[in-house]
Amino acid sequence: MYDKKGLDKVKQAKEQWDETTVQKTVSRFPERKENFETDSGIPIERLYSPDLLEDADYQRDLGMPGHYPYTRGVQPTMYRGRFWTMRQYAGFGTAEETNQRFKYLLEQGQTGLSVAFDLPTQIGYDSDHSLARGEVGKVGVAIDSLKDMEILYDGIPLEKVSTSMTINSPAAVILAMYIAVAEKQGVTPEQLSGTIQNDILKEYVARGTYIFPPEPSMRLITDIFEYCAKDVPNWNTISISGYHIREAGATAAQEIAFTLADGIAYVQAAIDAGLDVDEFAPRLSFFFNAHLNFFEEIAKFRAARRVWAKIMKERFGAQNKKSLMLRFHTQTAGVTLTAQQPDVNIMRVAFQALSAVLGGTQSLHTNSKDEALALPSEDAVLIALRTQQVIAHEIGVTETADPLGGSFFVEKLTNDIEDMVLDYIEKIDKLGGAAKAIEKGYMQKEIQESAYKYMQEIESNDKVVVGVNKFKMRKDTPTDLLKVDPAVAQRQCDKIEQVRQERSQQEVAETLKALRNAAQSDNNLMPYIIAAVKAYATLGEICGVLREVFGEYQQQVVI
Ligand code: 3HC
Repeated sequence: MYDKKGLDKVKQAKEQWDETTVQKTVSRFPERKENFETDSGIPIERLYSPDLLEDADYQRDLGMPGHYPYTRGVQPTMYRGRFWTMRQYAGFGTAEETNQRFKYLLEQGQTGLSVAFDLPTQIGYDSDHSLARGEVGKVGVAIDSLKDMEILYDGIPLEKVSTSMTINSPAAVILAMYIAVAEKQGVTPEQLSGTIQNDILKEYVARGTYIFPPEPSMRLITDIFEYCAKDVPNWNTISISGYHIREAGATAAQEIAFTLADGIAYVQAAIDAGLDVDEFAPRLSFFFNAHLNFFEEIAKFRAARRVWAKIMKERFGAQNKKSLMLRFHTQTAGVTLTAQQPDVNIMRVAFQALSAVLGGTQSLHTNSKDEALALPSEDAVLIALRTQQVIAHEIGVTETADPLGGSFFVEKLTNDIEDMVLDYIEKIDKLGGAAKAIEKGYMQKEIQESAYKYMQEIESNDKVVVGVNKFKMRKDTPTDLLKVDPAVAQRQCDKIEQVRQERSQQEVAETLKALRNAAQSDNNLMPYIIAAVKAYATLGEICGVLREVFGEYQQQVVI
């Protein structure tokens, strides 16, 4: 990108600047700390200039937006053509309460839905199961049967909205319910757009809502890939997630590396299951965290696109350009929200959201200021959504593609993160791939070490957290918190009882028997799960059959 002669001149000028101007200044005003480095430990130079990018090649390293290697974005016109989807993660209580929150958010201008399920739903238990006690409707909406899904999407036209559902082990069951609800609205599977998270590997590493062991889990995932490739062509079949890996304490480079390593494992598993890479790869999607180190986060997203494009082209031989595009959703970093002075979180979220936009995200959730304390109140979630709307409409950052492209700092950081990511992926390959690396506790150990280092920096005040270890206040700003009605659980149990009374027990028994037989064979399970869901078999009953056939995952203890 830069000619040799020009670079030599810059180098000389920089040496001169350092010897004369800089040394004089720092002798009088020493810099405020010894080392400047990013969260990933990348040293930050006092000044960035083209001599640090002497091997840069525009076409090879950057290319045009919408062209390989997609460093500058996956769409040719990016936000000039369409803003990212404003997609607030939402769900609590019963389907009725969440349906109301969805409608409120859509009225306020959000452009996509994102469903949070309660823990019993996420680990395949009905609300009346003994293990569900105390958790029904608490961290998300309680979904036990197709009846609940009908209520959840009541009055919401599924052919017009894209819906993300954060569900992993029971993803096939929830997707089956969504297809069945759409059918009742007269909407065909071909008309549906949305995403299921369906990423079990990160559940073993960071999030914990796993049910089955890796092998049957991977089978369920590739069954969904195969089924949707044929029957639900616009459905994003997986959201390969780095968000929770980062929340668990990973650095930016580890977040990208471990997520892409998981992605490699899913692609390989689908190919091993007999699928052609271009048959399913266009509908893989990703999910990342937008953390506090602004420029590193922007560089992280750009590096992720470039690395994934090369992996899909060179490692898997994908031909379809859509197979090479890393499309991702971003959520601002929940772990950076403070319970102290919650209003200060509004600024943290705004800067994190801005880094996601400058990094080229396709979809965005902005955390609410009160989420370190409770699920978001209506007022808090409105501020979070308005933050996205101000970024989109008022500050001029959506008028051109990849506006920070070409910045010496951002390009150098993009290269440095790419190098770190490739190193980690090589190590994971040597361990036998992501699933094996997880079994050996490699990712977990790396994350624990990074988390410990980050916490130490806060404890020692090397890393300032406004309101927590500096600029504290005696009396904290009060804020109204959302409280989930404790009567939710009883209402939910009454609903399950009613569903069981009204359904055909024979049809339920037949569909569950057919599912069991299919699970014991190598048939694609989706059609059997859809039949069971349509018979109003509950999520707990369906997952119960699969537990009996597949068994349950036993967590690896990493010391
Ligand atoms: N020019 C032309 N076309 C454009 C365009 C442009 N500038 N911008 C977008 N488009 C097109 C796209 O190509 C797409 O069309 P296609 O489907 O035919 O390709 C359409 O417009 C929609 O655009 P996107 O696909 O970019 O946007 P979506 O929002 O539909 O999809 C996604 C984004 C990342 C691919 C998708 O997977 C998604 O929405 N993911 C969301 C995941 C999510 O919300 N997860 C929440 C998890 S919460 C959690 O886990 C945290 C908790 O545990 C705490």
